[in-house]
Amino acid sequence: RESRVERVASLIRDVPDFPSPGIMFKDITPLLSNPIGFQAAITELVTSAPRPIDTVVGMEARGFIFAAPVALALGAGFVPVRKPGKLPGDTVSASYELEYGENTLSIHRDAVRPGARVMVVDDVLATGGTIGATAALVRGLGAVVAQVSVVMELSFLNGRDKLAELGIDNYSALVTV
Ligand code: PRP
Ligand code: MG
Repeated sequence: RESRVERVASLIRDVPDFPSPGIMFKDITPLLSNPIGFQAAITELVTSAPRPIDTVVGMEARGFIFAAPVALALGAGFVPVRKPGKLPGDTVSASYELEYGENTLSIHRDAVRPGARVMVVDDVLATGGTIGATAALVRGLGAVVAQVSVVMELSFLNGRDKLAELGIDNYSALVTV
C-alpha cells in the first residue's frame, strides 16, 4: 500500500522549461487539488512538529497554503511572512540574495511573542534564502525556531547546508528530489 509520503511525491508534477528554458518546475497544484493527497501532506507536516508549538509561520504565497492548516491542526496560531508593503502594522524585515538581486520579507513586530516556540512551514526548500530570512525574522523577535518543515526539498541547491550553517537543526522535508 502506498505510504502518505509516496502519495504526496506522486502528486507533484514536473513542468519542463518553466518559468524559463532549462528549468524543471515542481508543480504542487495536483497535490493541492487531490483531497487525499493534500490531507496526507498536512498530516505529515503536523507529525513532524515537536510539541508544543505556539505559532506556525508561513511565507507568502505558497507557504500560506500549507502553514495555515498545520496551525489549525496543532492548535497554534498562524502568522504570515509577507513581501514588502503588504502588512499594515509595525513590521521588521530581512533580505536575502537571489541569483540576480535580492528579496525582502516582513513580519508584524507584535505577531510572535519573545520565547514563543515557532514552526516555519513552506512548500519548497531550494537555496534556503526564504527560510533563512524567515528564521532571522523569528529570532529577531526573540522567539525560537523549534521546527522547519517543507513539503519538498530541491537537494541540488544545497539549502539544507545553509540551514545547518544558520543553526537550524530541527528540519524535515516530506519529499527530497
Ligand atoms: C518559492 C517557494 C519557496 C522559495 C524557495 O517561493 O515557494 O518559498 O521559492 O526558494 P529558496 O529556498 O531559494 O528561497 P517564491 O519566492 O517563488 O514565491 P511564491 O511562494 O510567492 O510563489
Ligand atoms: Mg514561496
